[in-house]
Amino acid sequence: MSKKKDSKNHSFFDEGKVVLITGASSGIGKNVALALASSRMKLIIIARRENKLMQTARSLNKLKIKNLPIVGDIRNREDREKIIRYSLKKFGRIDVLINNAGLGKANLFLEQSSEEIDELIETNILGLIKMSKLVIPIMKEQNDGHIINISSSLALLPVYPFAVYCATKSAVKTFSDCIREEVKEYGIKVSTVLPGPYNTEFHKVAGLDDSSYTSFTVLKLADKIAKLVKKPKENLIQPWFFIPLVWIATRFKFIRRKITSPIAKSIMEGKIKKERLEFKKKEEAQKITVKIP
Ligand SMILES: NC(=O)c1ccc[n+]([C@@H]2O[C@H](COP(=O)([O-])OP(=O)(O)OC[C@H]3O[C@@H](n4cnc5c(N)ncnc54)[C@H](OP(=O)(O)O)[C@@H]3O)[C@@H](O)[C@H]2O)c1
Repeated sequence: MSKKKDSKNHSFFDEGKVVLITGASSGIGKNVALALASSRMKLIIIARRENKLMQTARSLNKLKIKNLPIVGDIRNREDREKIIRYSLKKFGRIDVLINNAGLGKANLFLEQSSEEIDELIETNILGLIKMSKLVIPIMKEQNDGHIINISSSLALLPVYPFAVYCATKSAVKTFSDCIREEVKEYGIKVSTVLPGPYNTEFHKVAGLDDSSYTSFTVLKLADKIAKLVKKPKENLIQPWFFIPLVWIATRFKFIRRKITSPIAKSIMEGKIKKERLEFKKKEEAQKITVKIP
């Protein structure tokens, strides 16, 4: 059977599709894996924290979903190659790559360390681009595939306390828009997801106190991304009311400032609140140490 015919038989709605999700130990990645369970797809799940990743794997096992957890850091070339090698050995193909692993760091640019800048760029841009570089030739061979890149609504609504993060996420959006044109002739689709604030570990990792602002439930977003796996779409902006917000903000600079200024303010407040809490905790820990004879 020719490859083309073979890929047609293996339609996007088939059970048994192989989906590789980076950053599946928590938040969006973990919840997308669980949301895909009802489709009976085979899942390859990636993250650095083994205990957390194995929790996702155990939840999938309970749902009788075939899965392959691989502990790895997408910033590391050997780890990326290992991820692809193990995936092909176990399942023989990769139908969908969800480039989800990523992080943000809330900080004023002038106060940001060069290590933090490297971490953001190496994870959010280089890791994502290099995972795509390894997977696209496999999809080209299959004449079928789908890459889903997780960007952020902050790519279109940039806020100054997240300057480097916003830059990485707009790079993700631009990269997706460019490769979409290049790979479509091989039957490969490219989708970009641009989420607003969702209740994951993102805010803690970013150094924020998330009680300072509203965040939406990640389960709804995970369901939307699971649907996107079956039905590719160029851009998925969530929650839905961010669609008109982004539309207006990208056309009218004055309105964009009106929208982004309060977001920037709440991010700075969240950061200060978190720093105060941490300072208080340290102080209390010191008091306890002093009390011990
Ligand atoms: N939550 C939001 O409000 C929001 C909004 C817009 C966009 N996003 C984007 O959504 C994606 C998922 O974030 P989340 O909200 O689900 O946050 P999260 O709960 O912190 O999840 C991030 C995931 O990425 C993994 N990860 C980070 N660096 C990695 C690396 N070098 N190699 C492998 N895995 C790595 C983490 O696992 P380990 O630490 O175990 O490696 C974790 O599983 C990110 O790209 C983020 O920028 C989030």
